[in-house]
Order: sequence, then structure tokens, then C-alpha cells
Amino acid sequence: MNILKAEDISVSYDSSLVIKDVSLNLNKGEVVCLLGASGIGKSTLFGVLSGVHLPDLGRVFLKGKEITGKAGEISYMQQRDLLLPYKTIMENVSLPLIINGASKKDAYMAAGAYFESFGLTGCEKKYPNQLSGGMRQRAALLRTYLFKSDIILLDEPFSDLDVITKHAMQTWFLSIAEKLGVTALFITHDIDEAIFLSDRIYVMTGKPGKIANEINILSQKPRQAEFAVSAEFNAYKRKIMDILKNDSFFSFVGL
Ligand SMILES: Nc1ncnc2c1ncn2[C@@H]1O[C@H](COP(=O)(O)OP(=O)(O)OP(=O)(O)O)[C@@H](O)[C@H]1O
Ligand SMILES: [Mg+2]
Repeated sequence: MNILKAEDISVSYDSSLVIKDVSLNLNKGEVVCLLGASGIGKSTLFGVLSGVHLPDLGRVFLKGKEITGKAGEISYMQQRDLLLPYKTIMENVSLPLIINGASKKDAYMAAGAYFESFGLTGCEKKYPNQLSGGMRQRAALLRTYLFKSDIILLDEPFSDLDVITKHAMQTWFLSIAEKLGVTALFITHDIDEAIFLSDRIYVMTGKPGKIANEINILSQKPRQAEFAVSAEFNAYKRKIMDILKNDSFFSFVGL
């Protein structure tokens, strides 16, 4: 079932076109990635999908209902996790439930049920600066998930982590997404991450940014670490590298 649909989105800043005619869709239970170079317009597109940015042209639909320019319909984890430093992890993650009207007691109980799955047991009363980077990102992911919208948008959730933590987080994310039946659209400029996590990848290229290709990753889930070193994985990587190699966005480096 199609949950999210964006039609012909164009956005400009200061009369310079950043993204042009971008259309995409997301089906229930899919993990889909938006892959593209830094500055191509990925976060801008997420701003439009989440309703915080009104596009010059184009429309966004959530389960058939138009939500263009309407914030609060879709959970959105921004590029920098924004845990409140003066609130405990429990206070931070239960915030969406309290905003939605739950009592503190009910919110803590509901949020507490996920602490083990999100690897946060024992962190309830800690403050964000007492957690590792990976734990902070898992707390931010839990908070995003608890908004309980039908879909979550994740803007480079793992990009600031070291390679070892990043890989552990990716494997964990696949298992939790499967377990909770999450539908997610996430941004990355890491090709390996896109292939490892996605059911489908939209590759953005050009200036203004457009969707150049859509690639289905057919490898079955759950995926094991071996997938990341398989011939199948490398074939996908080659295909994506070839698309990016011809990206006019990089014309300045003469590739
Ligand atoms: N508020 C703004 N005002 C003016 N220009 C902006 C604004 N936000 C973004 N831009 C410009 O729009 C372009 C796309 O930015 P955006 O943040 O969407 O890229 P991105 O693909 O998310 O990059 P990254 O991977 O580095 O996060 C960039 O050239 C950026 O400078
Ligand atoms: Mg960005």
C-alpha cells in the first residue's frame, strides 16, 4: 500500500533552483533511501515531505490525503539529533507521547517498554551528554518512532558515528525496523549504507537535484554482515557508482 507520495516537487532558495520535479513514493513496511552528494538537496526535500518547507511547485500526499506544507503529520529525525541536553533520556524520548496528551506516568511506561529493544536499558535517568554517540542516536530514533506516525523520515541518522558503531547500528536498525514494522525513508551519502539497509534506493544527481534512478535491492531480509561483502552487493555498488560518476553536480572536479 502506498503511504507517502511526492509529486513533481521543485524548490528554490534565493531564486536559484535546488531541486526540480522530484517525485517519489513509499509503500507500507519499506525502508527506502535517498542517496546523493552533499548539497544536492536531500534535506531540503525532507523539509518539504515533513511539511516544514513549502515547495515552489509540487504536492505531498500521506495515505491519499494532501499534506503539502502541513507539519506534524510525519515523524522527522533531523540531520543533527536534537535531544534536549537538560532533560533525561526518559524525558526526551517520551516527549512526543506527552505532546499527544499522555500523562507523564503513562508516557514513561509506554516509552520504557522500548528501552531494551533500543539498547537503552539503564539510561532512563541519564542526560544526553552521559551517553555514547550510538546511544544518543538510538534515543533520538526511539523518540522519532514514538511520534507514532505511519512513516519516519531519518536524515543521515548514522553519519556521525565511527565505522564500527555505524555497522552495528545498521544491523540493529534492520532488525528493529522488521520487528516494529517500520516504514522509513532515510537520507545517506554512504553508498554501502544505502545498499545494506534499503529495499529501494532513489539516487539523486544534477544541479538542480533530480531523481536519476530508482534501484530495487532484491536481497532478502534480514541481511547478515556477509551481504556487505558479496558479489551481489558489489554489483549494486558498481551500478550506483556509475550513475554518480556521470553526475553533472560534480562537473567542478572534472570526473
Ligand atoms: N535555508 C536555506 N537558504 C538558502 N540556501 C539553502 C538553505 N538550505 C539549503 N540551502 C542550499 O540548498 C542546497 C541543498 O541543501 P541541502 O541541505 O538540502 O543538501 P543535502 O543534500 O541535504 O546536503 P548534505 O548531504 O550536506 O546534508 C545547498 O546548496 C544549500 O546551500
Ligand atoms: Mg542534508
